[in-house]
Amino acid sequence: MHVTGARPNFPKAAPVIAALERHPLRQLLVHTGQHYGDRMSEVFFRELGLPAPDVNLGVGSGTHATQTAAIMVGLEELFVAERPDLVMVYGDVNSTAAAALVAAKMGVALAHVEAGLRSFDWTMPEEINRVVTDRLADLLLVTSADAVAHLGNEGVHPDRIHLVGNPMIDTLMRHLGALDATAAAAQVGVDPSEPYLVATLHRPGNVDDPADVAELVQAVHATADQVRVVVPLHPRGRERLARAGFMDHDRVLVVPPLGYVEFLGLVTGSAAVVTDSGGVQEETTVLGVPCLTLRPNTERPVTITHGTNQLVTRPDLPAAVARVLAEGRRADPDRVPPLWDGHAGPRIAAVVARHLGL
Ligand code: UD1
Ligand code: UDP
Repeated sequence: MHVTGARPNFPKAAPVIAALERHPLRQLLVHTGQHYGDRMSEVFFRELGLPAPDVNLGVGSGTHATQTAAIMVGLEELFVAERPDLVMVYGDVNSTAAAALVAAKMGVALAHVEAGLRSFDWTMPEEINRVVTDRLADLLLVTSADAVAHLGNEGVHPDRIHLVGNPMIDTLMRHLGALDATAAAAQVGVDPSEPYLVATLHRPGNVDDPADVAELVQAVHATADQVRVVVPLHPRGRERLARAGFMDHDRVLVVPPLGYVEFLGLVTGSAAVVTDSGGVQEETTVLGVPCLTLRPNTERPVTITHGTNQLVTRPDLPAAVARVLAEGRRADPDRVPPLWDGHAGPRIAAVVARHLGL
């Protein structure tokens, strides 16, 4: 049983589900409903070749406790009814940690895809979700060597840790041929012959507190004085950013969240990306697009050591963008971390099949 629920879960689960189809087992796909609607959920099911969810718990938005509790109650009933042999969870969202707690307390085996990442920043809800999920998981499926080391330091037995690579990159590689920068730019109303940045912003650390929002608006406006900035805006910060005048700059183009192919098409044609997303740091690393991450830390340091990522503060953003625009893209074939090769799904499926004795 795969438990998904939020946007970043979908490109991680798709290649695992596809690879497991080649094994003799029954798969159930659960959508918790943490994210919902066409732009945050349904478009990914259409584009990524995911089967329709067998169950949608429809929990929707809420405080952490409300949302996590609703997911737990729904999953407990479902686990009792379906008695899964293994529950698979993805990433670090509330749906992930909620499923892990229910599985562990019911004695159901748990596999965590993208285990072991650590920002060591306990103000992030994701860090809490990661640590809780990893502590409870039987199979820890890991994207990078640093994550193996973190789990070892936390006392996880090496037999449980499997370095399998990055399934999100499987999805990216599968769709590379469909990414069309010109079409994506036209679709959002950008002239593709002029340089543009793509920005995604949704972390509480950037969009929740009015003082942070004010600083963010100033940073992005000073950036937009240099170059057009296209922002497919996550619903989380929309109202606060609008109230703070984020949209009041003629080179800041705010559009609704985009589908996967359209979003990554736009990214491939961009001069650089500004983001606080986890997944986007990884995708830009593989695509070779410079990435400026507006965060004080990252749980994905390989995107800095191998890839195109750098951490920047909000006040430093305009100068960092100026530098990146002057440098252009680096042609560096070594930038892709080991095992980010498009074959993580089959490796995960092999570990799961072995675990289930298939
Ligand atoms: C969640 C994850 C975060 C991940 C992000 C990916 C947690 C704690 N956080 O953050 O790690 O990076 O998803 O996108 O799980 N909303 C909508 N429509 C939706 C979903 C959300 O309008 O489909 C709005 C609601 O006002 C909601 C707010 O966004 O209250 C936040 O949604 P939530 O799922 O709680 O967290 P995200 O910020 O999306
Ligand atoms: N993404 C998308 N459309 C958008 C913004 C992001 O398809 O408008 C994709 C992106 O390519 C990546 C995933 O959503 O595959 C990452 O999700 P998000 O940034 O919401 O979550 P995070 O990775 O930060 O948890």
